[in-house]
Amino acid sequence: MADTRFKLNTGAEIPALGLGTWQSDTGLVKKAVAYALSVGYKHIDAAYCYGNEDEVGEGLKEAFDGGIKREDVFVTTKLWCTYHSRVEQNLDMSLKSLGLDYVDLYLMHWPVAMNPEGNHEKFPKHPDGSRDLVKDWSHIETWKSMEKLLATGKVKAIGVANYSVRYLEQLLPHCTVVPAVNQIENHPSLPQQEIVDFCKAKGIHITAYSPLGSTGSPMMKEKAILEVAEKRSITPASVLLSYHISRGSSVLAKSVNPERIKANMDIVKLDASDMKTLNDYSLELVKSGKVVRYVYPAFGVEFGFPDKS
Ligand SMILES: NC(=O)c1ccc[n+]([C@@H]2O[C@H](COP(=O)([O-])OP(=O)(O)OC[C@H]3O[C@@H](n4cnc5c(N)ncnc54)[C@H](OP(=O)(O)O)[C@@H]3O)[C@@H](O)[C@H]2O)c1
Repeated sequence: MADTRFKLNTGAEIPALGLGTWQSDTGLVKKAVAYALSVGYKHIDAAYCYGNEDEVGEGLKEAFDGGIKREDVFVTTKLWCTYHSRVEQNLDMSLKSLGLDYVDLYLMHWPVAMNPEGNHEKFPKHPDGSRDLVKDWSHIETWKSMEKLLATGKVKAIGVANYSVRYLEQLLPHCTVVPAVNQIENHPSLPQQEIVDFCKAKGIHITAYSPLGSTGSPMMKEKAILEVAEKRSITPASVLLSYHISRGSSVLAKSVNPERIKANMDIVKLDASDMKTLNDYSLELVKSGKVVRYVYPAFGVEFGFPDKS
């Protein structure tokens, strides 16, 4: 199941399981990328903002030097918020660090622009400590610049991340190119069914991030997850990763630990009763308003996102 692929609206295929690199420390991420590719991963998720693309690039190089072909690896990276008015420049910076001529997918990391001339290159703040956002900048303008990248050959596909239905509804009427992917935080504690269904109807593939609930998550101890894990004789992490592939989404799992990188390839086909157990758990959280966002509080709230869907 780990070798499942999904078709994008470009006609290309995205490998269902990708290695995440957020919070993968320098000194560890090169090895993680090279090891993952050596054991069969075909998809690496990077971002300019993560500050480790040089090392991700070294890991890719080690894999390519070892005989893995560039065209057999799907590489994603992302435009950072302080570069919404300098899209191609930020892409070029990522390509240089990654040591690549092109990426398979380039995503707008958040539909929010931050001041390119603020007091920090990535996370500018006002003197009162609030984020220095460019409030009158439209993400639609950014998307238009992203569309132009396709003609350069430096990106095979373009997409978005952290888009709610509301943001997609603003964007789609202005698109010449419909985003190939929307990468969102997604797990049974945050099913985001409305966005998943909306994207499916529009031909936009969903990639789930923080599927394990990110660092220190309690999700792997939840009763519903443990129940499915026990029934299938797999780990809670395998349940959480398999959940997305069973619902037609690709999934990114971050690890810098070789054992866990390998173990995360243990993807199984969950049956209808497993999915019902997980979906009932999700529904209960949605009904009681207790869905859990692990990443949103760090970014979305600070960005002052008006829409929490
Ligand atoms: N577009 C966006 O805005 C956005 C936001 C967040 C994340 N992402 C992408 O999605 C990727 C995944 O999300 P994430 O990094 O937030 O979190 P995640 O993959 O849900 O969880 C990573 C955490 O789980 C641990 N872990 C990994 N495999 C495990 C296993 N089998 N058993 C127990 N623990 C395990 C990792 O530690 P070890 O490394 O020590 O194994 C790490 O602490 C990111 O790395 C990034 O590429 C995108």
